[in-house]
Amino acid sequence: MKVTFKIWRQENAKTKGDFKSYEVYDLTKDMSFLEALDHLNELLVERDEKTIAFEYDCREGICGQCCLFINGRAHGPHSNMTTCQLHMRSFKDGETIVVEPWRATAFPVIKDLVIDRSSLDRIIEQGGYINAKTGTAPEANAILISKSIADKAMDAAACIGCGACVATCKNSSAALFTSAKINHLNSLPQGHQEASTRVLKMARQMELEGFGSCTFTGACEVECPEHISIINIAEMNVRRLKAKWFE
Ligand code: FES
Repeated sequence: MKVTFKIWRQENAKTKGDFKSYEVYDLTKDMSFLEALDHLNELLVERDEKTIAFEYDCREGICGQCCLFINGRAHGPHSNMTTCQLHMRSFKDGETIVVEPWRATAFPVIKDLVIDRSSLDRIIEQGGYINAKTGTAPEANAILISKSIADKAMDAAACIGCGACVATCKNSSAALFTSAKINHLNSLPQGHQEASTRVLKMARQMELEGFGSCTFTGACEVECPEHISIINIAEMNVRRLKAKWFE
């Protein structure tokens, strides 16, 4: 299998970037997309050229590091999938594949396809924790939580923080990410103590970081590898309104 990778190259945040094309042969349909990029980097090393910087860690759809915009879609042509779970069989032989970093003001490019997503960390710092003393592991039934609440919290907690929601949103909004992190903790009794300050501070930080406003297009839900629902955003907005009311 042969493809042409058209890849964004940028030395650092201060320099201008541009696309560069690379023809790559000897690929197989069973290779993962990241393995195909590895192969391209090996060819660049042989040619004594600079390798392409791109991020990954687990390659199992867990860590959220492999954020690439492929042929105009976050994480490639399939919905609800990370880049590391994408395989070359999703592309045609001879196809040109355009690979870019996430595009958002709050995600500046560090090098080539690697972006700085510390803006998401700073949102978490504002309330993505609980103050309850945990001590040793408590007896499992000491705090009774209904199945529906536990399911809701776990669904929100599934967010891997990849930032695909931001990358795919026409407003570069981080509302899906922020609302998932808020609703995960605010739904559980352990998170009730800081519920109001959590939603106010995290939503405020989201705005300070330069993310746009949510206009409910639903694009984020389509691309989210963890199927996080936009209902979380509606719930965050209600929680924020109530918290402001009683501030
Ligand atoms: S490398 Fe961890 S989710 Fe893709």
